[in-house]
Amino acid sequence: MGNISEDIITIILGAGLGKRMKSGVAKVLHPVAGLPMILYPVKAAGELASLKTVVVVGHQADRVKDVLSGKDVEIVHQTEQKGTADAVRLAVESIRDFTGLIVVLCGDVPLITSETVTGLIDAHKKAGASITVLTTEVDDPSGYGRIFRDNNGSILKIVEDRDADDSIKRIKEINTGIYVFNGGFLSKIISGISSANAQEEFYITDSVEIGIRKGLKVVAHKTMQREDVMGINTRAELAIAEGIMRSRINNRHMLNGVTFINPETVYIEDNVRIARDVTIYPGTFIQGSTVIGEGCIIYSNSRIRDSRIGCGVTIKDACVIEESKVGDNAQIGPFAHIRPGTVLDKDVRIGNFVELKKAFMGEGSKANHLTYLGDAEIGSGVNIGAGTITCNYDGYKKHKTTIGNNVFVGSDVQFIAPVNIGDGALIAAGSTVTKDVPPGALAISRVEQGNKEGYAEKRKKIKMKSEK
Ligand code: UD1
Ligand code: MG
Repeated sequence: MGNISEDIITIILGAGLGKRMKSGVAKVLHPVAGLPMILYPVKAAGELASLKTVVVVGHQADRVKDVLSGKDVEIVHQTEQKGTADAVRLAVESIRDFTGLIVVLCGDVPLITSETVTGLIDAHKKAGASITVLTTEVDDPSGYGRIFRDNNGSILKIVEDRDADDSIKRIKEINTGIYVFNGGFLSKIISGISSANAQEEFYITDSVEIGIRKGLKVVAHKTMQREDVMGINTRAELAIAEGIMRSRINNRHMLNGVTFINPETVYIEDNVRIARDVTIYPGTFIQGSTVIGEGCIIYSNSRIRDSRIGCGVTIKDACVIEESKVGDNAQIGPFAHIRPGTVLDKDVRIGNFVELKKAFMGEGSKANHLTYLGDAEIGSGVNIGAGTITCNYDGYKKHKTTIGNNVFVGSDVQFIAPVNIGDGALIAAGSTVTKDVPPGALAISRVEQGNKEGYAEKRKKIKMKSEK
């Protein structure tokens, strides 16, 4: 058995509403780089060698719980948001008798890293403290709790902004809301915290004075990683965090061998994976669970969400690709819309103004211009001419178009689904295909052309007559 005091449990506070966000959505659900912000402290907690993570939820608890489903966390409900000490108390009650270290993180501090938290834990252990508060210095401390130290530099108390007089308001060292407590101490004092303050809330910050009064060691550990501990309380702070997170993510990809023509203009969400030697032009969004294979080029202004892009794929300008798969060496765009459920095999070519929905296209097939293919299964080596449309919807139901291998579809063809085209068939340009076409057959369904000799001259004469 290891030393019990080495054990760590992390508590993440996420029950508050976040009034200053002016939102119908709980603050911890607002996304940063595509993920609800509470998932970042959850991730940092997961990287610590902690026994478990307890998340306190309250405001919009069901939605927060949804976001946390599948994560290795325990959930505690705070039905009424009576302050940070009340939230911590509920979590501590759920881990009764735990005497190891308790790390407290905030759901609204998404830029926190496990390195910064580990630094705090190390400082706590080294000092043999009962409480260690993570602090930092900021140019504008308004809104934050201030760290009040004595002449020797030891922390005496934390004063909340709303309870601070002018001299305290001038202090630039602030409480980040992140702490390490000795579990035994915390469970003894947590119920004794009062709500005698400007907000009539139970403040976890009061534990500092209580600890000192009891003669315990309380330490304020200052970090220089100001960005890591930035609390999000307003939309303006949310935008700043978004920018920092975005550049962190892009830097990570650059370190892994991805080229950005201008990284400031590329928005990649946190869960996206990108292989090396991918080049990304400005104005691109890559979202959700997208995976991009080696050697792809993604030109400007595309958005790719929840998709799997193979190796060596070229995505020309201004494409939207959602919930789809694109095979190796395919070429997409410019101006293509690949909608959910599409699967493109290798070497497929999709050109300008082509929309695909729930379409499969086999190896080397092409739809280069002005086409809609929906609910379609298309074999390999197929050429789809410009202006081809699968008429998949009859006003009530969707129907499928199946096209075999090596079919040649001329321009401006409509397939009235359900319809099946056999391997190697030819579809004449301008045809409306309402019946199945056998393999190797030519289908042609356009009105035969008649030429009226000299008609233009005749028409001109008729017009001149009528004007007299
Ligand atoms: C808190 C600190 C302040 C610190 C700041 C850092 C207190 C009293 N103040 O203030 O010293 O400078 O964080 O960002 O602790 N929460 C609950 N239940 C509640 C109230 C809050 O779970 O009843 C959660 C919130 O969801 C949030 C976190 O606790 O994730 C902090 O609450 P918030 O209201 O943002 O506190 P601040 O005013 O920012
Ligand atoms: Mg806050």
